[in-house]
Amino acid sequence: MNILFIGDIVGKSGRDVISSLLYSLKKENKIDLVIANGENSAHGKGITYKIYNSLISDGIDYITMGNHTYSKSEINTYMDDMRNLVVPYNHKLRTTDNYYKIIEYKGLRICLTNILSDVLIGEADGDAYEAFEKVLENTRHLNPDFYFVDLHAEATATKRVFIEHFKEYAKVVVGTHTHVQTADERMIGDCAFITDVGMCGSYDSVIGRDIEESIITNVYHDKTHFTVSNAPAIFCAVVIEIDEKLKKPVSIRRIQIRP
Ligand code: FE2
Repeated sequence: MNILFIGDIVGKSGRDVISSLLYSLKKENKIDLVIANGENSAHGKGITYKIYNSLISDGIDYITMGNHTYSKSEINTYMDDMRNLVVPYNHKLRTTDNYYKIIEYKGLRICLTNILSDVLIGEADGDAYEAFEKVLENTRHLNPDFYFVDLHAEATATKRVFIEHFKEYAKVVVGTHTHVQTADERMIGDCAFITDVGMCGSYDSVIGRDIEESIITNVYHDKTHFTVSNAPAIFCAVVIEIDEKLKKPVSIRRIQIRP
């Protein structure tokens, strides 16, 4: 089984690159399942019901989120209808139980979950490690073969510590949030790991944001709106191969397509 995990989709240019590339990438890489981080898909912050549906109809099976999960308030209205949305367990604003999904495929049971780190992320309620301990406690009775974790975190060390500590359970840990793809994808024992998958968002931008506006905000500390860059997007993802008989991952490979 091949799983394509797509990094943070940022704004319209990120959504456009999904629409134009995903169909052929799925064919080329013999992809059985697609998971994407969609927490920046609506104008850089959050997701809307309309965008959720368009990403699903473009071929994404499950959408994970991050610190911006609740940035668009309509998410709470449509939460029950977004059946394949997975929100961070330890987001301060979480009210529903959709922080995990059991994915069944040819006898395999994979528990997909989403965890926030509290390092430089104010929306996290507690650290990533205690959050995953709770997820394990709450979902163990469902008997998943392993956990697939989207670890939404800023600090690199947080992510490596996470997989080292939880490698008995979390056989896939993919980092998201920084929007910059790291070249450290590897198997750690029988676990697939990458510090950050990178983004699908404007290549000529500051992690997806308009360059001029980023200078005004960062250098001159002037107030601005949040403007997503419209420049053509880079596409970043990983392909994780799962051996269905062994019930664990056997390889991880990066994809990065620049405009
Ligand atoms: Fe984020």
